[in-house]
Amino acid sequence: MVIDMFRKVLFATDFTPSATNALRYVIKLKEAGTEEVVVIHVVENVTLEAMVESCIWSKEDVKKCEEEIEEKVIAQAKKKMQGIKEELEKHGLKVKTVVKIGKPAINIVDTAKKEGVSIIVLGSHGKSRTEEVLIGSVAENVVRHASHIPVLLVRE
Ligand SMILES: Nc1ncnc2c1ncn2[C@@H]1O[C@H](COP(=O)(O)OP(=O)(O)OP(=O)(O)O)[C@@H](O)[C@H]1O
Ligand SMILES: [Mg+2]
Repeated sequence: MVIDMFRKVLFATDFTPSATNALRYVIKLKEAGTEEVVVIHVVENVTLEAMVESCIWSKEDVKKCEEEIEEKVIAQAKKKMQGIKEELEKHGLKVKTVVKIGKPAINIVDTAKKEGVSIIVLGSHGKSRTEEVLIGSVAENVVRHASHIPVLLVRE
């Protein structure tokens, strides 16, 4: 039955044009029976590590400096997530947002399983946007490890 195939969607975003393009498909999926959307963004720990590196020069407490940067990055992500939430709600969808720190693919797959979603929607590319590669590494690892959960990869 179509309704059950798409009832609950996990939409993963790195806030790039490729992911934003995939969001259009999430909205369109409502016509195929989507009721609920879980939106996830994973703050990559490598990005965070690179950012907190400057803290070694901090005259204050290094730990405090790191915490402040982490808080700022999370707050920025949450703000962007709120915009996506409102956009989806405008289209009559029920929305939950999730922000995690770590490796994107593993957090996306874990959340998909925990939330019991019907399908995962991603862009085929993200930040790196290397045109030569068929799909990005996050996309590839999600497809590889999502086991029984279908994955919709949206190309630009
Ligand atoms: N940190 C993230 N949090 C949530 N979703 C993400 C994240 N990174 C990527 N995605 C999702 O995966 C899609 C593909 O991005 P991916 O990172 O695989 O490509 P890339 O950045 O071009 O390549 P790579 O990361 O391998 O250098 C994005 O459009 C987005 O939907
Ligand atoms: Mg990427």
